[in-house]
Order: sequence, then structure tokens, then C-alpha cells
Amino acid sequence: MSLEIVILAAGKGKRMRSERAKVLHDLGGQPLLHHVLATATELQPTAIHVVYGHGGDAVTAAFADAPVHWVRQTQQKGTGHALRQALPFIDPNSRVLVMYGDIPLVRAATLRPLCDAKLNLSILTATIKDASGYGRIIRDLSGAVSGIVEQRDASTEQLAIREINTGFMAASAGALSAWLQKIGNDNIQGEYYLTDVIACAAQAGEIISDVKASRPYETLGVNSNAELAMMERLLQRRRVKQLLNDGVTVRDPMRLDIRGECTIGADCVVDINVLLEGEVRIGRRVSIGANSIVRNSVIGDDVEILEHCVIDGAEISDGCRVGPFARLRPDTVLHERARVGNFVEVKKSTLGTDSKANHLAYVGDATLGRDVNIGAGVITCNYDGSNKHQTLIGDAAFIGSNAQLVAPVTIGTKVTVGAGSTITGNVPDDALAVTRARQRTIRGWKRPQKK
Ligand code: UD1
Ligand code: CA
Repeated sequence: MSLEIVILAAGKGKRMRSERAKVLHDLGGQPLLHHVLATATELQPTAIHVVYGHGGDAVTAAFADAPVHWVRQTQQKGTGHALRQALPFIDPNSRVLVMYGDIPLVRAATLRPLCDAKLNLSILTATIKDASGYGRIIRDLSGAVSGIVEQRDASTEQLAIREINTGFMAASAGALSAWLQKIGNDNIQGEYYLTDVIACAAQAGEIISDVKASRPYETLGVNSNAELAMMERLLQRRRVKQLLNDGVTVRDPMRLDIRGECTIGADCVVDINVLLEGEVRIGRRVSIGANSIVRNSVIGDDVEILEHCVIDGAEISDGCRVGPFARLRPDTVLHERARVGNFVEVKKSTLGTDSKANHLAYVGDATLGRDVNIGAGVITCNYDGSNKHQTLIGDAAFIGSNAQLVAPVTIGTKVTVGAGSTITGNVPDDALAVTRARQRTIRGWKRPQKK
């Protein structure tokens, strides 16, 4: 039997108190719906249908490239009503897995038993300490599931039940469609509850298979900012655990955040308060110092990132050393063993093999050959107030401290630029260029006296 998945994501998420659709709220650097879609894809269904509504086009736009079938639920009349919108597009002979767009941490392995179950209807339940807000599982005297009652419709006795409806359910499409025709909206919220399908099936004599989640935390939903924050910690813990298993030393697992997708090789050491954001690829034996941020960057092997660096959109080759207090902006490329030291900003520039800018410099729109030395206080003046211009520096050039290179300008190989020079014209290979005034020394100089 083929598998089709429906993700319900049309709700307003009232309790978030936000203008933004709930499923677009960020968890671990990605929208909630991204996590659910990733898990759905892992289950390899023949189709994924996403029911959207609140937030409308913003939701579809955020996932423009996702291979999903969008179904619009114009009015949010409940989860049962939402599923009903998708059913006409589903092969009646297939099995349908229902997922909720606000439950981001569930793993494919947890859902697989529901998809594979032979019975017409199977649900995933979990037993948790504080069940408030969730639908409770009702069982008959024999222990079989006979229904689900929502928090707001539950009696005091029912509220004491700690076994909850996680929201995940799988059923044969044909049967599901028939049960959905029968449910009404006679409840406190006036909504068509998908959960009423359970009692409906039970009354028709169906045996409902119930699978218990072995790790209840992964079935928890995000309904408020407080829950979102808690879920963020759970997700970060899961990500760090994976890194530890992969051979990475994380000085304090509570003080590393990964917002996005990142791979880190074995024998890397990550110090405290590090943030890895976007797409980050890090090789082996790399160390990342405390309080550093690495965003959308690729880092080779044996690289040392010292404390307090901000690295964004950079490509750093093997053996480089960056920081402390360095800022690499997008399109920075560091070739092997290049060094960028404290208070150096690099933007849209390439530093060749073994080149260094160790202190207090700005390198922007520049291409440096190998073995170039950029002294303290050097500035590539790349902007004339209207346009950006390039600076080219040949191999083994030595740019003295506090020099300004006014772009566009080309400095040849093995050039020496004297400290404090303002270079406005090209310098040929092997030359010395100095523009500062010659020093005058007046012996025995008497300072003026105060009157
Ligand atoms: C729902 C379940 C509850 C379960 C809990 C698990 C129902 C009636 N209740 O409650 O038993 O314990 O999830 O987290 O199903 N949605 C739509 N269209 C709508 C309404 C909701 O697409 O008209 C979507 C929402 O975007 C959300 C999901 O369905 O992703 C669940 O809706 P929500 O309002 O969060 O239901 P809960 O009150 O959490
Ligand atoms: Ca919910």
C-alpha cells in the first residue's frame, strides 16, 4: 500500500501572539514546518500534502522549492475540517499519515510503526507528566482505545489522564474519508475535531492500534513562545549529542547553538558560547574559541579560530589561524596557512597561501598573492563614495604599517610599501614605494614656555 502524508499547518497559533504563521516560527535556525517536512520526506511517501491557511502565501513562499502539494484551508474550522480539504487529492487505496505542522522534533523511526500497521487506524500516544492542553486518550474496560477527549471538553476525571494524543495518526484513506464525513462540530470550540474520528471508528467496531512513543518529548507541540523556547533547548541538546557521538569535543553542551545545518569533523574542539549558523562545514582538528560565531562558511582541516571572531560567508583553507577578535565578511577566501589577527576586517577578498594580516587592518575588495604581509593599521581604501574598487597585491609584498592603498591599485610582487604611505598609483615588481615626508630632526629643540 502506498503512503501519502498530510501535514496540517493552517492554524493561527493564537497562543504565539504573533502576526506570523506559527509554522514559520524559527526553531534551530529553520521554520517549524521545515523540520516536519524533513521527517515526512524521510518516510518516503508518494506525496506530501500541506494544508495551509493562516499566513497564506508567506507559508508557500517560504517553501517555494519544496516538492509538496499545497492545499488551502480558507477558514480554520478545526483539524478534521483541515484534513478533509486534502482527502480529495489522495488515492483512496493509500495509507495516510497525518502530521501536525507544530510538532517539529518527531523522528521518522517513531512514525514508521504507524505507517506499517496493518489495522485500519493507528494512533501514536504518549504518557507525559503534565498533559494540560493535550487531548486525552480514553480507553474502554478492556483497555482498547475508544476515543479522544480534548482538554476543553474533558471532565475532571478525564483531565487526570496523563496519556495524550500526540496528533499523529495513520489510516487507510478510504475509511478515513468515510469517518470524516460523520464527525460534527458540537463541542466547546465549535470545530471539526480530527480526534473525533477515533470514537467514530471504535463505535463502528474498528480495532484501533495504538503505538506508544518511547521518547515522549519528541511528540510535544509548540503552541506558545515558552514551548518554542523549551523546544529549542531540546533540539540543541539533540544536535550537540550528535556532535559528541561524531568525535567532537564540546566544552559545554549547554553553550553551543547550531542554527541551521552544520557538519563538523572528528577531533574538533568547540569552546563555550559558540554559535554556528546557516550552512557551516568544518573539517577535522579545528578549534573554535569562546564567543565566536561562524555563519554560512566552509572551514578546512587544522584551522584555529580563536576567541571572539565573527565569520560570515568565508572559505578558510587548511592550517589557517583567525582571531582573536577578527571579522571575516562574505566572500572572504583564505588559502592555506593564511592568518588574520585581532581587529582585522576582511571583505570580498582573497589572502594567498601563508599571507598574513595580523593586527588592526581593513582588507576589502582585494586579492593578495602568497606570502604577503599586511602591517598593522593598513587600509585598502576600496570606496570612493560612489563605487567600490579592487586592490591587487603580488606575492611576497610587504605593506608597512599604517599604509593606505587607494583602489583601484596594483602592487607588484616583492614590493615594499613604506610605513605610513598613501599609495595612489600602481607599483611595479621589486620596488619600494614611500610617500611620507622625509623626517627632519632639529637637535636641542626647546619647547615653547607657558606664558
Ligand atoms: C491537537 C489535538 C490534540 C492533541 C494535540 C497534539 C485536535 C482537535 N486536537 O490539539 O488532541 O493532543 O494537537 O499536539 O486535533 N490546524 C489546521 N486547521 C485548523 C486547525 C488546526 O490546519 O482548522 C493545524 C494547526 O496548524 C496545527 C495542527 O492542526 O499544526 C493542530 O492544531 P492545534 O490548534 O495546535 O491543536 P491542539 O489544540 O494543539
Ligand atoms: Ca498544537
